[in-house]
Amino acid sequence: MYNIAIDGPAGAGKSTIARQIAKRKGYIYVDTGAMYRAMALFLLENHIAPDDTERISQKSQEADISIIYENGEQVVLLNGRNVNGLIRTEEVSNMSSASSVNGDVRKKLVELQQKLAKEADVVMDGRDIGTCVLPHADLKIYLTASSEVRAKRRYDEMKARGDVCDIDVIKKDIEERDYRDMHRDISPLKQAEDAVLVDSSDMTIGEVIDKIMGMCG
Ligand code: DC
Repeated sequence: MYNIAIDGPAGAGKSTIARQIAKRKGYIYVDTGAMYRAMALFLLENHIAPDDTERISQKSQEADISIIYENGEQVVLLNGRNVNGLIRTEEVSNMSSASSVNGDVRKKLVELQQKLAKEADVVMDGRDIGTCVLPHADLKIYLTASSEVRAKRRYDEMKARGDVCDIDVIKKDIEERDYRDMHRDISPLKQAEDAVLVDSSDMTIGEVIDKIMGMCG
């Protein structure tokens, strides 16, 4: 199996890039952030506080998260329910960053991710794919961009969807999330030693895709 790992902070363009690379290569795209988001939704629906470690550990074991593909798109199922339309809110973003520090949550989702990569050629994006989930991936990319550029991208995305948002709040949320993702004890976000750094701040999506395609086997 050929495995491509793409890691980096929120809003660096990982999912857009990973999805396109997977399409061009005929691989499966695995969005691991969506799994952490589905778990966060489950915890929010069960009224669990982001800092209640013990209940997060317990309750997360009742969440059955799985992935199916419909028309080439990843669909996340939470206890059999398609939750794709519910996991992109700021509330879920913030809860997923908080609950993904939990070792029991990570263990459960990492097992699922490793299984998917064993069964198919994948482009998998997340925070710990190159460092932890797929340490032997054939190609590892660390995709980043400045927090200003990332906040602007998220702002444009939300505005296009008709969501009301404030760019300064988004930037602050992104920076807080980066800090948590990079400083947690288990599998913090960091560039794997053998990952190639790609800074997309001044690059178009097409340029980033071409650069990565040039590195694929
Ligand atoms: O990529 P995203 O914004 O959809 O991810 C949501 C949260 O999930 C993010 O704050 C960090 C966490 N996450 C993680 O800890 N490990 C991953 N492999 C993917 C996401």
